[in-house]
Amino acid sequence: MVLRVTIDGCGGYLPELRLSNDELAALHGLETSDAWIRERTGIRYRHVAASGETASDMGAAAAREALSRAGVEPAEVDAILVATSTPDSAFPATAVRIQAKLGVTKGFAFDIAAACTGFIYGLAVADSLIRTGQARCVLVIGTEVYSRILDWADRGTCVLFGDGAGAVLLRAEEGAGTTADRGLLSCHMHSDGRFGDILHIEGGAGSTGGPGLLRMAGKEVFRHAVTKLAAVVDEALSANGLGHEDVRWLVPHQANLRIINAMGKKLHLPEDRVVVTVDRHANTSAASIPLALAEAHRDGRIGAGDLVVMEAIGGGLTWGAALARF
Ligand code: COA
Repeated sequence: MVLRVTIDGCGGYLPELRLSNDELAALHGLETSDAWIRERTGIRYRHVAASGETASDMGAAAAREALSRAGVEPAEVDAILVATSTPDSAFPATAVRIQAKLGVTKGFAFDIAAACTGFIYGLAVADSLIRTGQARCVLVIGTEVYSRILDWADRGTCVLFGDGAGAVLLRAEEGAGTTADRGLLSCHMHSDGRFGDILHIEGGAGSTGGPGLLRMAGKEVFRHAVTKLAAVVDEALSANGLGHEDVRWLVPHQANLRIINAMGKKLHLPEDRVVVTVDRHANTSAASIPLALAEAHRDGRIGAGDLVVMEAIGGGLTWGAALARF
């Protein structure tokens, strides 16, 4: 028997305010159009946090749903990992803020800085913590308030992102050690700091100074995304002796519908087996995969026994994939 780390509950939270492309353009006086944004990205709407609403508020809300769907009390949680690029403050970690909001007083909590890949990194770290006996019941949360770090004068980036949070509750379960087991089969993390400047936050709470706003060379990021995501998905499948025919669902990071469609084609998956939220959520960075998981789990699309591939790329560059059986 081997220890597997199972995804026992999923949760999501979206702020109340939802803006269409036209509403966003009117609000910020942007020279753009609904047609341009939809054609290039697939985005139609995004949610925007209310004034004073923080990453920890949203992350705690998503975590509460994950806990209640798993039937787990907050007191049982012994580790909280939060992937975010928009923490409440540099410290205390947003994870520790969420720990307090959930009323958890034992164990430990920390943040993970891997931009849009943060949730995959979080799964990988949680998998290791549980399998090495350092924790038994772990919340992995992605929560982002990108509306606070966007340059509203840069139409090439400000139309692409949205706010939101997603969470999963992970626990240990004995498995037979085959790919038929429930739980995380494997996680694969990569980074290459040589490409740090093509997608980064200029200053902010960091030590380099600057306005704390997002900068991106979109075309270059796009090029890396298509090749690196395809490679890491292959890596995950071949590490488990599986092929694309074994995949039931692709739950990709939601940055751009064109990248998502390219990945669906690569896996030979029909469109209705790819979970898409980018049209309604835009890019919620580290929150996008757990938000998509929560939606597809809630509406019954992802069910027991389904093999799910998750993949993401983001600032760093960082990228990765995780394979899980529900
Ligand atoms: N509305 C209208 N026009 C816009 C615009 C907007 N919101 N943003 C940019 N443009 C213009 C540009 O100014 C440019 O005009 P020009 O040709 O007159 O100079 C033109 O549209 C093309 O811009 P470009 O940046 O080359 O567009 P693109 O086809 O590369 O699409 C992205 C831009 C951002 C949608 C695309 O590069 C992308 O999705 N990249 C990956 C982003 C990503 O995945 N990031 C997150 C990873 S976590």
